[in-house]
Amino acid sequence: MFTEEEKEAFYKILYKRRDIRTFLPNPIPDESLQNILTAAHHAPSVGFMQPWNFTLVYSDEVKERLAWAANKERRALAIHYEEEEEKESDFLALKIEGIKESPLTICVTSDPTRGGSHVLGRNSIPETDSLSTACAIQNMWLAACAEGIALGWVSFYKKQDIRNILEIPPHIDPIALLSIGYTDDYPNMPILQTANWEKRRELEELLYVDTWGNNRTNMD
Ligand SMILES: Cc1cc2nc3c(=O)[nH]c(=O)nc-3n(C[C@H](O)[C@H](O)[C@H](O)COP(=O)(O)O)c2cc1C
Repeated sequence: MFTEEEKEAFYKILYKRRDIRTFLPNPIPDESLQNILTAAHHAPSVGFMQPWNFTLVYSDEVKERLAWAANKERRALAIHYEEEEEKESDFLALKIEGIKESPLTICVTSDPTRGGSHVLGRNSIPETDSLSTACAIQNMWLAACAEGIALGWVSFYKKQDIRNILEIPPHIDPIALLSIGYTDDYPNMPILQTANWEKRRELEELLYVDTWGNNRTNMD
């Protein structure tokens, strides 16, 4: 079992972890990177299929092209924000700078064919392969935080653009682009909350008892 200090450290990492969009150019030490990747590889996965791969992108030229793909999508999304002076779209632009600034971008992919056609559990709910890969990414996020390293998740891109740039086969799913590196700006609160975009909902409102929608507070 874990000591009180160990438990405290675990929850501290959990609550301190943030999505980051500004990075310093300093390289990530090999040991830290290995710890982060090994943490990912210890995530749970449906039928233990371990559908993930991690493509480490160091090349400035390739990062430029990934940023181009994200920027193209940002401009497409901007149509939805026209009436709000493209505030949201400008906000996403920071993420694109993050891809170019950070010393490393990791493309995390999911291979739905790994383990053959009979992966236990995935037969019923096919998207459990992507969900398993998301668990791996969360492990990376927490491990990076423990290593004092920042990580930002980018998911606005057309998958086909990312496949073309990174030469990913058509059946492989590019789940995330992760910008990773040191930062001098690790906020205490989600950046979207500071920007008055969204705030954390009350947990109590999300808890139901016995049937969907039956709030615990209604039971008194
Ligand atoms: C599945 C997923 C996709 C995300 N995609 C993006 C993205 O495309 N752009 C972005 O700015 N942040 C993205 N994020 C980060 C969220 O905006 C961020 O996690 C959220 O605002 C809460 O902030 P926190 O992670 O600092 O607690 C993504 C997060 C998740 C879990």
